[in-house]
Amino acid sequence: NPASVKRQLAQIFEVSLKATVPDEEDVVPLVDACTAKTGGVKFGDYQCNNAMGIWSKLKGKETGFRGPPSIGQAIINNLPPSEMIDSCSLAGPGFVNVVLSKNWIAQGVQRMLSDGIDTWAPRLPIRRAMVDFSSPNIAKEMHVGHLRSTIIGDTLARMLEFSRVELVTRRNHVGDWGTQESSHFGIGTIGLKVDAFVLQFGMLIEYLFEKFPNQENVSETAIGDLQAFYKASKLRFDDDPEFKLRAQQAVILLQSGNPRYRKAWEQICDISRAEFDKVYQRLGVQLEEMGESFYNPYIPGVIEQLDKLGLVEDSDGARVIYVEGVNIPLIAVKRDGGYNYFSTDLASLWYRLNKEKLEWIVYVTDIGQQQHFDMLFKAFRRAGWLPRNENAYPKCTHIGFGLVLGDDGKRFRSRSSEVVRLVDLLDEAKRRCKTALLERDTTSDWSEEEIEKTSEAIGYGAVKYADLKINRLTNYTFNFDQMLSDKGNTAVYLLYAHARICSIIRKSGKDIEEIKKNGYIVLDHEDERLLGLHLLQFPEVFEEACSNLLPSVLCDYLYTLAEIFTKKFYSNCQVVGSPEESSRLLLCEATAIVMRKCFYLLGIEPVYKL
Ligand code: ARG
Repeated sequence: NPASVKRQLAQIFEVSLKATVPDEEDVVPLVDACTAKTGGVKFGDYQCNNAMGIWSKLKGKETGFRGPPSIGQAIINNLPPSEMIDSCSLAGPGFVNVVLSKNWIAQGVQRMLSDGIDTWAPRLPIRRAMVDFSSPNIAKEMHVGHLRSTIIGDTLARMLEFSRVELVTRRNHVGDWGTQESSHFGIGTIGLKVDAFVLQFGMLIEYLFEKFPNQENVSETAIGDLQAFYKASKLRFDDDPEFKLRAQQAVILLQSGNPRYRKAWEQICDISRAEFDKVYQRLGVQLEEMGESFYNPYIPGVIEQLDKLGLVEDSDGARVIYVEGVNIPLIAVKRDGGYNYFSTDLASLWYRLNKEKLEWIVYVTDIGQQQHFDMLFKAFRRAGWLPRNENAYPKCTHIGFGLVLGDDGKRFRSRSSEVVRLVDLLDEAKRRCKTALLERDTTSDWSEEEIEKTSEAIGYGAVKYADLKINRLTNYTFNFDQMLSDKGNTAVYLLYAHARICSIIRKSGKDIEEIKKNGYIVLDHEDERLLGLHLLQFPEVFEEACSNLLPSVLCDYLYTLAEIFTKKFYSNCQVVGSPEESSRLLLCEATAIVMRKCFYLLGIEPVYKL
């Protein structure tokens, strides 16, 4: 990533290190931004920490150095002249602190304004990537875990796109057994037996027939809430042995391709999908569905290939694969000859690597499935279908996340029922934002459409941000009051800050495009400099967020940016009417642009006035 300040500095230090210790090989420059956390901001912007390591390597050898500080001093003396650096100083046991040149910072921000923020994007060395996310199960509840997967997955896809991956597929690997052609679904072909899972289909179909003797009347509106429908049918199933028997027969009829049963099943699938779509539409997420059933025809072939490679063993009649470091085997074919979640993922990964030629496949699910994916990838490595080196392409990564909790610290549930309808949850966020928006006196002249659009942007944005700002591995507590507060680290606060910046520019009455062409940035005030530096650090922060696929890193950056702008720059530097007006308007514009890029990456719709 050529735009990264950190990398550019590291290159300069590399030159100095070569001159300082010419006989040492592989001395990698250790350069990092000073942060409040490392206690270093007072002394410099960046720090080079090579001296101590070099000293311990050199100890005992005949050199002119007397200790880490003298090595640090030599590193400083050997730095090639550079426009980047204003000054260097030595601290503690040999740390080299670097103060960047404020002109160099100003030029960097200015160049972004003229060339566009995409010049700050890194370039991943791959062309085709996939994020497998959301992936709810047909005819079952789409729960908050799927919501988390949807929010995180879409952001990761956006991050890959910004990293110039040509094709990023958003794949919905829905659990849709039974929607396939009957030949694939039939007992003979793939040996799918009437197990508990498939039995649910029969149960739902029979209940559908009971509720709608005339099948033409089945529709989404007629069924209303699929979850309630599911619950009611489960009650029937548990209470009435005669109903249970019919459900079992329904499965056989469905599998044998009976048109009436197939149609009923398709109706149930359609209603399920319509419900998922409502969530996707609100979140502005578009996925490409290729459900589990798609891979059924590929399963036998893939297992046969693995068998030929000597990976498949018999275990009590089941066909299993052992992988390194895990004492339980992966079950590829069940004892009854049926396939399972693993069988499908073996086939789908094979398909993705060989047919879709993907170079990076990212799976986003709760951490509960970590072992599943660990075993899957290990099996592929054993087969030689994925490189031994986990970081080499083609690469597979499982992105796990923690639970969503309620205020009581338990799994998130709504008050009325055990499950939360995601659509209701999102609508509630929007409704609350709308109420808050209408209470503001600035909105009195807004059109109905503006109110709607803005409350959607803030409401859905708040739900997304509350999720993304937490390190994904930790559980988080779902709390409307917290996520919709206009203070603190929330989307509401950030969207307001952005809107305020836009209004400063608007109210100045100046043509910002004109200033972009003719004006230039000066960073004489320390808070101007602080803001400029933080803006310039976007590329390296983005890179860090990408290398660990951690959207929370981006959120931290965005929040700090808003804080520096509001609490430092805007509080201490007058913009409109000051002698520095044009430079400061450019800083406002640059801040708004970087904020919008962050919003975009986080899937949040920006708001321009409030
Ligand atoms: N349907 C699964 C679930 O609801 C998630 C599927 C994830 N993707 C995959 N290729 N296994 O938990």
